[in-house]
Amino acid sequence: MEEIIKLSGVNKVFKSKNGETNALSDVNLSVYRGEIIGVIGFSGAGKSTLVRCINALEVPDDGKVTVLGQEVNELKNSELLKLRRKIGMIFQGFNLLQQKTVLKNVTFPLEVAGMKKKEAVWKAVSLLEEVGLAEKIKAYPAQLSGGQKQRVAIARALANDPEILLCDEATSALDAETSAQILKLLKEINEKRGITVVIIAHQLSVIRTACSRVAVIDGGKLCETGTVEEVFSDPQTSAAKRLLAFEGDEL
Ligand SMILES: Nc1ncnc2c1ncn2[C@@H]1O[C@H](COP(=O)(O)OP(=O)(O)OP(=O)(O)O)[C@@H](O)[C@H]1O
Ligand SMILES: [Mg+2]
Repeated sequence: MEEIIKLSGVNKVFKSKNGETNALSDVNLSVYRGEIIGVIGFSGAGKSTLVRCINALEVPDDGKVTVLGQEVNELKNSELLKLRRKIGMIFQGFNLLQQKTVLKNVTFPLEVAGMKKKEAVWKAVSLLEEVGLAEKIKAYPAQLSGGQKQRVAIARALANDPEILLCDEATSALDAETSAQILKLLKEINEKRGITVVIIAHQLSVIRTACSRVAVIDGGKLCETGTVEEVFSDPQTSAAKRLLAFEGDEL
């Protein structure tokens, strides 16, 4: 199996007036092409820092991050830009351009990548069809529900046909039913496109529903990785046991 993402010995320390935080400590993780992997942990465990290292929004203090065979922190700016087009990202807050229509939110990254306007519109419409939002192309983000906003964000993230989709708490702002619909859509996209999906969540149900494998992160340390069945039914480390024994769904 091809390791599409590989983190080896990754350390990240944040220094502030109040001292140092070991956001990531010696993290080793392999993500395989085509899988949906979940990363789960309590608030502050280092989940967002971990995904931000994948597209070099954070640079580790030590260790190596390899994506699609390239060491991301060794790349020149132009090479990094190219690699980032292969990595889509969606967030809890959707991060849509409020002053632009749904269609323009999706054509924007295509035009930035150099696509002609007509072609960009054609492609954006087909992406919006793919996420089930074709009838809203002229709407503005403020006129959409949370689930619809996330669908626009997914269409935008898919604009440049990425090979990897990073989802940082993508369903955390949504109610349970809408969250399930978005996870279903992510699964369909994974199956249809063969895209590799990394889902960060602090809700156990999200990982259970959507992922085949899971990595458990606690206090910056990646303590356990395995299939969802393995880790949920028989966690090996005390950190994973503690996390998965948590009452309720929200960590
Ligand atoms: N830019 C930063 N400067 C200083 N500290 C930071 C910075 N980014 C993250 N941290 C700290 O690093 C740790 C890990 O943060 P991170 O955002 O990765 O956690 P998380 O698991 O995503 O949490 P949440 O579930 O709340 O989103 C936290 O203690 C956080 O306060
Ligand atoms: Mg986070």
